[in-house]
Amino acid sequence: MTDHIRTDLSDGILSVIFARPDKKNAITQAMYAALAEATQRAQSDDAVRVLLFRAEGDSFSAGNDIADFIAIGSQAGEPLDMPVFQFLKALADLDKPAVAAVRGRAVGIGLTLLLHCDMVVVAEDALLSAPFINLALAPEAASSLLLPQVLGHQRAFEIFALGEPVDGRTAVAWGLANRAVASEQVEATALELAGRLAARAPNSLRKTKRLMRDAEHLWALMQREGEAFGSQMKSPEAMEAFMAFSQKRAPDFSKVG
Ligand code: COA
Repeated sequence: MTDHIRTDLSDGILSVIFARPDKKNAITQAMYAALAEATQRAQSDDAVRVLLFRAEGDSFSAGNDIADFIAIGSQAGEPLDMPVFQFLKALADLDKPAVAAVRGRAVGIGLTLLLHCDMVVVAEDALLSAPFINLALAPEAASSLLLPQVLGHQRAFEIFALGEPVDGRTAVAWGLANRAVASEQVEATALELAGRLAARAPNSLRKTKRLMRDAEHLWALMQREGEAFGSQMKSPEAMEAFMAFSQKRAPDFSKVG
């Protein structure tokens, strides 16, 4: 159980709220377990018409908790047993519409989660990034397929390899998000869109979404990515990157072979 993910069901909209603002909503294993449970509930509960991801504080999410990476990297065991994969599987399986309301930073899975949302509202000054290679990791959440599909190879590669953020306006221009609005209007705009989706014919929406994406293929890819991510997570270059983050310094990859 964690207080860092809150849920709220009203008018057919299940809000899943990142609630760890002091750590920029970095996601721990306990939070992934709660995210998985909420996403599974969205899929199975007839009272839920739309899933809405939103966040407390000034950032959507700083991605995976890096202290957790250090802890997990030194443990034995199968990466696929981790709660993050339960969440990813639930996302791949979800055929009800998902909406996201993004202010501030969306890093790592904070961005790749958006590739599984059907409508995304961003703040004009939001900053979206996927700096997996800065951390000596590899893409996850089927983003190795979905990000180049949306952006084209070169833009996606740059986002992965250089790790620099794109702002909300650029995210809309590049097709990553539907609307860029002033920061204080993000939640209201996302809620309004979610409300409109909640009023649509539910089975028609679900069939439409199922036809638009191949859930089995996405899950197979997530598992393949998990192998690359998992082996990188235990590598000397990733340990250097994680230690550098916790010591608030730049990583030095010059000595890793
Ligand atoms: N894991 C663990 N803790 C994190 C975190 C993460 N992914 N992201 C931020 N935090 C913590 C910081 O360590 C800091 O904790 P402290 O107050 O105890 O020192 C707190 O959250 C605030 O972060 P800070 O870096 O001071 O805020 P900022 O506004 O200067 O920068 C970010 C925000 C998101 C740009 C920066 O925190 C960052 O780059 N985080 C790492 C993102 C990342 O690489 N995620 C993994 C992707 S795979």
